[in-house]
This record gives sequence, C-alpha cells and structure tokens, in this order.
Amino acid sequence: MATETQSGATRRFLARHKSLEKNVTLLMIFAFLVVTIGGIVEIAPLFYLQNTIEKVEGMRPYSPLELAGRQIYIREGCYVCHSQMIRPLRDEVERYGHYSLAAESMYDHPFQWGSKRTGPDLARVGGRYSDEWHVDHMRNPRDLVPESVMPAYPWLERTPLDYRFIADHLRTNRMVGVPYTDEMIANAEADLKAQIDPDGDGVDDLLARYPKAQVRNFDGQPGISELDALIAYLQMLGTLVDFSTYDAAANAR
Ligand code: HEC
Repeated sequence: MATETQSGATRRFLARHKSLEKNVTLLMIFAFLVVTIGGIVEIAPLFYLQNTIEKVEGMRPYSPLELAGRQIYIREGCYVCHSQMIRPLRDEVERYGHYSLAAESMYDHPFQWGSKRTGPDLARVGGRYSDEWHVDHMRNPRDLVPESVMPAYPWLERTPLDYRFIADHLRTNRMVGVPYTDEMIANAEADLKAQIDPDGDGVDDLLARYPKAQVRNFDGQPGISELDALIAYLQMLGTLVDFSTYDAAANAR
C-alpha cells in the first residue's frame, strides 16, 4: 500500500537523520551550511537594491536656507540634548505626532536621530510655535519656560549667515546621494536669499524647486542672520509628509 511505502521512506530518512544528530562534527557542518544558505538569501539581495527605504510622497532635499540652518544646529550641538526620531510607541506618538519614517531622514547627512533627550524630540517641531517664539526662546529659553535648562544662543540673531559656500554644500550632499540637480546648485545662493524675501522675484522658482518651502523673514530683522537659517530649519522639521493622506499599509505593498 502507498502509505506503507511512504512510512518506510520516512523511517529510512529518520535513521539517516539520527546518524547526523549523533555525530557532532557532521551536525556542525550541516548546521553551518543551513545557516549560510539562510544568511545569503537574506543579505545578498540588499547589495543589489538601489534603495531600502520606501519612497514617501512629499520628501524633498533641504532648501539651501534650511540646509544652512541645519548646519548651525549641528555646529551648536543641539543634538546633544534633542533627538529627531519619534518611536512607534503610544506615549511618543501622543506627545510628538506620527512616528518618524525612514524616508524622513533619507536626505540627512549626517542624520540627527540623537541618543539623548534632555529636551523634547524635535522631529515634528515645525509649525508648533511661531517664529517670534523661537526668536525669544533662542535669546533666553527661561523667558518662555522658566524651568528650562537649555542654554541661550543670543549670538545667532546678531551673526550674519555665512553662505559663501552654500553651492559647495549642496554639491557635497549630492556626492553622498542627495538628488540636488545642476539647476539647484547653480541657484543655491539665489534660492537662499529668496526664502527670506517674500516680496522678491525668486520666490516662484524657489517653490518650484523646493515645494512647501516657507518663505518669510524668520527673525523679523533686516539681513540674513544665522537665526533666520536655524528657524527656517526648525519650522520645516516634520512638515513635508502629509500624514492626513499618508497610508502606511499602501506604502508597504
Ligand atoms: C543642555 C541641553 C540643551 C541643548 C544643548 C539645547 N536644548 Fe533645546 N531644549 C532643552 C530643554 C530642556 C527644552 C525644554 C524646555 C524649553 O522649552 O526650553 C528644550 C526645548 C527646545 C525647543 C522647544 C521644543 C518643544 O517642543 O517645546 C526647541 C525648538 C529647542 N529646544 C531647540 C534647540 C536648538 C535649536 C538648540 C541648539 C541651538 C538646542 N535646543 C539646544 C535642552 C537643550
């Protein structure tokens, strides 16, 4: 009968398997083979993928002014006290908003996830406060939050932004994979100035190149200060992806 033949084959197989289980060297060789095959199947495709990050609508490279502000953020060591990564845990999502997506830091070189939260996470601080709030807060955090331990950064509003090398900065980012175009690099300085001048001619071009860029005089003072750049950066954090239309399930498909 068919079932008898089958159980006979099974018995023979189990007998052979028994010798494998009883011989340590043989077992190790076969275990190594199995793990190696499993490892190759899992890891090898990653070397051939262009990108392991899901594409998300709305993400774009930083505008030149935002990029300059981000550089000040790094220079001043804001990451020492602030993270920029909302974890998918209930208390974090309730406090800060939608958890951070990998795509939201895909143009970050270096990324600013941080590892310490003396202050709150800043991944979605954009639009939470007015520009005036940020100006006062940077001047002296204790004017707004009496118990704050954050240092004051009063020199930022007094220091003109040095943007001589902004085109090189974009170019360097392109070398590590940020899709800045030749046009963006050629217009880097013009776009930087345009973002602070809502009545100027360059605004339409800026918005065509960097959709959703916020255009205004951020620190309320004439000239382009380091504070202008920093606030432009803070105000855009977490605002590019529209979470009212973002569908995590559709993205996973
Ligand atoms: C020594 C730690 C420390 C450093 C360094 C620091 N901060 Fe803070 N920051 C805090 C703390 C604590 C708070 C919460 C109290 C407050 O609002 O001042 C805070 C609050 C903030 C807030 C308001 C966040 C919110 O959601 O309420 C912003 C924006 C901010 N910091 C930006 C910055 C920037 C930009 C820098 C760098 C120029 C910086 N911080 C450097 C500790 C720090």
